[in-house]
Amino acid sequence: MSQLIDGKQISKQIKDELKEEVQRLSAAGRKACLAVVQVGDDPASSVYVRNKKKACAYIGIESKSFELPEETTEEELISLVEDLNRDNEVNGILVQLPLPKHIDEDKIIRTISPDKDVDGFHPVSVGRLWIGEKGFLSCTPAGIIQLLKRSGITIEGKECVIIGRSNIVGKPMAALLLRENGTVTVTHSRTKNLKEVTKRADILIVAIGKKQFITSEYVKEGAVVIDVGMHRDENNHLCGDVDFADVEPHTSAITPVPGGVGPMTIAMLMNNCVETIRTQEERP
Ligand code: GUN
Repeated sequence: MSQLIDGKQISKQIKDELKEEVQRLSAAGRKACLAVVQVGDDPASSVYVRNKKKACAYIGIESKSFELPEETTEEELISLVEDLNRDNEVNGILVQLPLPKHIDEDKIIRTISPDKDVDGFHPVSVGRLWIGEKGFLSCTPAGIIQLLKRSGITIEGKECVIIGRSNIVGKPMAALLLRENGTVTVTHSRTKNLKEVTKRADILIVAIGKKQFITSEYVKEGAVVIDVGMHRDENNHLCGDVDFADVEPHTSAITPVPGGVGPMTIAMLMNNCVETIRTQEERP
């Protein structure tokens, strides 16, 4: 029988732990405030932003909302981020992506102070992660590490194969699994004989961005499979990058979609927000 890794339950557990910690820190006079910036009204972004603000309210973190029109210029957005960098009442800054096409996302990410970079996207955060220094971790990969650890799955010494090399998931995932002493392979669209590589995996992380692409042919018997994908199937139901019905019987543990990786991203964002007040005095 395969173990179903319950991201909903694990994320709830993390949020409840954070809520308690925030109560303790608030009593000691340390309060967290997250600035949430959205440009335009992309419907998916609006759902994410609403859920992030809801999680803040649940945990006891203040959130400040900045909803800017689609026509906002790059200069105006940079100016807002610089104001938020200087604002001592704001501990974390989140600029929801994607941004409208006329705004250079990399430029905006680089404008956010690394000390308030709760998404972990700034090059300084990325560098800290790769050299093993303390810093903000990219939320989805950090959530996957928590899913594995809290499900009793050992990473050390395991063959870990990642499909996908994005800056938000694949690359930071590789750094985090390496930090946990996994043996890590990153595959991508140019990988030859993908099945042969993925069949080596004890832990297979799938972030390929293609609906139900991974079938049992890609999976070693008894592997742990983590599905980062999110799509709609022909019946308009949510599904992942993994063909769950086909793959699940061959795994020792697997995440469902929905209810696997998805809820963990916000839980880890909340953890990064709390980190800003945990380490307040240590920061230069
Ligand atoms: N858009 C999709 N995922 C994310 C995320 O994790 N952070 C931000 N800022 N934007 C996103």
